[in-house]
Amino acid sequence: MASLADRISSFFSGNDSHTDEGLRDLFITELKSVYYAEKRSVDALDDLIEASTTNEVKNAFIHHQDVSRTQIERLEEIFRIISIETEERSSDAIDGLISDAKLSINDTEQGSLTRDAALIIAAQKIEHYEIAIYGSLLTLANVLNFSQSAELLVQTLDEEKATDHALTILAKSFVNSQSKEEEDHHPGSHHATRHPIHSSDSDVTLGGPLGI
Ligand SMILES: [Fe+2]
Repeated sequence: MASLADRISSFFSGNDSHTDEGLRDLFITELKSVYYAEKRSVDALDDLIEASTTNEVKNAFIHHQDVSRTQIERLEEIFRIISIETEERSSDAIDGLISDAKLSINDTEQGSLTRDAALIIAAQKIEHYEIAIYGSLLTLANVLNFSQSAELLVQTLDEEKATDHALTILAKSFVNSQSKEEEDHHPGSHHATRHPIHSSDSDVTLGGPLGI
């Protein structure tokens, strides 16, 4: 039996058409899956926009929805480039994240900042899921020498990371202003002992906006 190292070297020298075909199938499966995820999240963002308390959060979701529509078009272009029919592949993962987001809306009071915090957390969970798929698709595209697809995937991955970062900054800014407001109204309340959350260059691996 060939060792893993032999198999890898024969794959990269172009002599392993079997693995090449397997990875191509995997690329297509993940592409269909993220296409489904993007479409579902664009629809779900309607609910998040409607449920938002502050204009800041509402506008962030409106912008995110616009960006996601462009990302859907980019995915359709990749389907064309690799000559595959555009198709969705349903995914329990994104369905679950979206139903969690809806539960968060039900579980929080309309018009509260807690509602906005819950919405940001829900959106960021979806964002991290998409980042994971796009990152994997980019790796596969590079291995398979799908250079045009890789260029499009890099653009989307950069946008997803920027969205993730923007949500983190937003969460920190409004949690800080909420703490200040509570302190102004209730000096010496237990909230005053909270430490403000400072902005920093956060990385997705550090967790969610409030999980620091
Ligand atoms: Fe997206």
